[in-house]
Amino acid sequence: MKCIHEIAPELLEGKRVIVRADFNVPISKSGSVDEPARIDGAMKTVTYLRNSGARVILISHIGRDPQETLRPVFEYLKKTTDVAFVDSWDEGRISEAVNMLQNGQVVLLENLRAKKEEEENDPKFVEFLASLADTYVNDAFSVSHRAHASVVGIPEHLKSYCGCQFKSEFENISRVFNPGHPFVVLMGGAKFETKIPVIESLLDKADSIFVGGALANDILKANGYEVGQSKVNDMDKEYAKKIFTHEKVILVEDVRVQSFLLPQNKNISDVTPKDKIIDGGAKTANVLAQKIKEAKLIVWNGPFGTFEQGNSFLSSKVIEAVAKSDAYSIVGGGDTVAEVKKLGREKEFDFISLSGGAMLEFIADGTLPGIEALKC
Ligand code: 3PG
Repeated sequence: MKCIHEIAPELLEGKRVIVRADFNVPISKSGSVDEPARIDGAMKTVTYLRNSGARVILISHIGRDPQETLRPVFEYLKKTTDVAFVDSWDEGRISEAVNMLQNGQVVLLENLRAKKEEEENDPKFVEFLASLADTYVNDAFSVSHRAHASVVGIPEHLKSYCGCQFKSEFENISRVFNPGHPFVVLMGGAKFETKIPVIESLLDKADSIFVGGALANDILKANGYEVGQSKVNDMDKEYAKKIFTHEKVILVEDVRVQSFLLPQNKNISDVTPKDKIIDGGAKTANVLAQKIKEAKLIVWNGPFGTFEQGNSFLSSKVIEAVAKSDAYSIVGGGDTVAEVKKLGREKEFDFISLSGGAMLEFIADGTLPGIEALKC
């Protein structure tokens, strides 16, 4: 897998380069980009290509609704970049816009998922996309768990490279495969089906795996604890017992439950049917602070409290501990990164991953369809 930056600028001059970016970003009610980190992350590659005199074709999806448009992203890009936008999948219009590109110019195409052929990795759609360019760059590590036309199809036809953002995600997350020890994993959030394979795959590599957030509610419930009105999924009881008793797994010792005034701290055995768990508690924070202090590598994915409602007690304590620790720290996942940003603590982490599902699948499987496609 080669990075486009390894290609000398003179070899890129005048070349048409199609760049798969991940512009799947939150859009505000007024229709503007709310969180531009992913767009800004792709700009290093785009700028390198432009400065080399390449003609850049930017492709991305946004959201899951085929009607969603990349126009807000275009408006954002326009502020800093000489960019055009083709707002339909009319192949004639797209080819014309690409043919009109001058060296150093950029064209953004419309939401890839407006075409069902994208997710189907349809050969005709792939051929069309590949016909637009001489070279392909994947700078969307965060979409590389999807075997879609723009991720695995195009590289079958063109000389292919990864971009800067992709490389940085790949190299940083790869640290989990050969970690410094103690290696501490912090898992929160709710999506059990995506988190369990990661916990499974890390049981032999990590020294401690903390399971918090709604994930912990599931495990507590399956092991006979009262979780009251808390958010839960129904998980396999045998599996929950295995996790609960595993020597490397740390679970919440105490939790914060909702109350009329301030949240109340309770031991997990004191939770009543009326309680709603909204965060991890103070004893749990102390246990984690000690683990984090001694760690050499920390990977965190998934919030521990209902942070949308302002419940960030345990996350704040974890961040404080990370700030004091010498460990290499990686945080990923949309909600987790949003929480860290909301608390204004991005600087405490060595690497903020822009990948959510892709980060988890990469850790669980050791590779991704988009990585394999670049190896050909
Ligand atoms: C993400 O936000 O994780 C990526 O853009 C992938 O989006 P998807 O889950 O809709 O495929």
